[in-house]
Amino acid sequence: MQSAVKIKMSPNVDLSFSHVREWERTKHVHRLHPYLGKFIPQLVEVFLKNNFTKGQVILDPFAGSGTTLVEANVLGMPSIGNELSYFNCLITKIKTHNYDIIKLEREILDLLSKSKEFSRSMNHKPLSEIATKKTNYFTTSEYLNKWFAPRALKELIFYLNNIQNYEYQDVLRIILTRSARSARLVPHFELTRAEEPIPIKGEYYCYKHKRKCQPTIEALKFLNRYSYDTIKRIREFSKMRTNAPISIIQGDTRKFRLPAKDLNGNIIEMPKKGIDGIFTSPPYVGLIDYHDQHRYAYELLGIPMNGKEEIGARSNGYNHKAVDDYRKGMIESLKAIIPFLSEEAIVFIVANDRNKIYPEIAEKSGFKIVTKFDRSVTKKASRERNPYSESVFQMVKE
Ligand SMILES: C[S@@+](CC[C@H](N)C(=O)[O-])C[C@H]1O[C@@H](n2cnc3c(N)ncnc32)[C@H](O)[C@@H]1O
Repeated sequence: MQSAVKIKMSPNVDLSFSHVREWERTKHVHRLHPYLGKFIPQLVEVFLKNNFTKGQVILDPFAGSGTTLVEANVLGMPSIGNELSYFNCLITKIKTHNYDIIKLEREILDLLSKSKEFSRSMNHKPLSEIATKKTNYFTTSEYLNKWFAPRALKELIFYLNNIQNYEYQDVLRIILTRSARSARLVPHFELTRAEEPIPIKGEYYCYKHKRKCQPTIEALKFLNRYSYDTIKRIREFSKMRTNAPISIIQGDTRKFRLPAKDLNGNIIEMPKKGIDGIFTSPPYVGLIDYHDQHRYAYELLGIPMNGKEEIGARSNGYNHKAVDDYRKGMIESLKAIIPFLSEEAIVFIVANDRNKIYPEIAEKSGFKIVTKFDRSVTKKASRERNPYSESVFQMVKE
C-alpha cells in the first residue's frame, strides 16, 4: 500500500555536525561507556524532531549502545530497541533506566571506597605476591591474565566480587568494564581498536599524548574517575528524561516479533497502530566486530558472546560471499520488522553503502527509498581520521 510521504527536510541539509564539539557529541549518558560505531546524538535528534511527534513509537532494530532510545525519550517518544549483543543491551539499559540518584550515588561511592581500601592493602607487597593464585582475587581466564597487569586485575576482580551487595548492580558492572577497558595493557592511542596482538609491557611512544607513556599497572584510578563521571552523567540525563517508556529486547533482528519479552522479562505489546518510525544504523559489511570490541567485558562479566550471529561481522571479511550474506541478512531483518510498522511509518537507515546494495535491500524487503541524505563523517576518536561519506536512506512501505 502506498503511504503519504511527508519529506520535511531538504536532502541538502548539512548533516556533518562538524561544528558540534566533542563534549556535546558525548553529552550526559552518551559517554557512559565507549562503543565503536556509535551515532552522534545530534543526527538522531534532527531526524526525530523533524519527522515525528511526541508520543509516536520509534524502533531501533540494531540499537547498539542505545543512542536512538535516549534521544527519543528526551523528545517524549516511546521507543523499542532490539540488539543482538547482551553487553550492548546492558549499556543501553543503564543509560536509559530511571534511578533514585541519591541511592545510586551512595552505592557507587561505597564500593569505590571499599576498592580503595583493598587497593591500599596491596601497597608494599612484592609483585610476585600480588600475582599469586593463592588469593580470592584471581581468575583462570587466559584472556584477562594476558591483558591486565596483576595489580589491576586484582582490583577489578575485587570490585566484581562485591557488586552482588548492591541494588544498582548493572551500573556498577558498567563502571567496572569501562575501567577495565582503560586498564588493559594496550597503548593509549590504540584503545579504540578491538585488540592488539601483543600486550605492551614497557615504555612506548604514545601518539595520543605525544610523549612516552608507561603501561597501566593499576585499575583503581579508572574506577575512581568513572565512578564520579557516571554519577554526573546520569544526574544530567535525569534532568531531561521524560516518562516515555523505553524497552530493550535482546535478540537477532532477523527473528524480530511482537509481543516480545524485554530485558526485565516484561511483555512488550505491539503498539495499537503499529510502530511509527525507525531510526537505525545497521552493521555494515566487514567493518566492525561488535562483540570482539568488548571482549574484556564478556570475559569479566561471564556473559555469552553471540558474535557468530552478527550481520556483516568484520571477521567474515569483505569478499563476495560476505557482501551476499550481508544483503540476505538485512533483507531478512527488514522483512521481519515490516509487519509491526504502521502504514505511514517512516524508516531511516544510516549506512555507508560502499557496495550500493541498499536500493536492492529496500526493494526486496518491501520498502521504497524516497530520499537519500548524504553526510560526511570524520572520525574523531581514533588515529584513522580519513573522512568518508555515509547515507541516510528514508524509506516507506512499498
Ligand atoms: C552500527 S551499530 C549500532 C550503533 C547504534 N546506532 C548506537 O548509536 O549505539 C550496529 C549494531 O547491530 C548489532 N547487530 C549485528 N547483527 C545483529 C543482528 N543479527 N541482530 C541484532 N543486532 C545485530 C551489533 O551488535 C551492533 O551493536
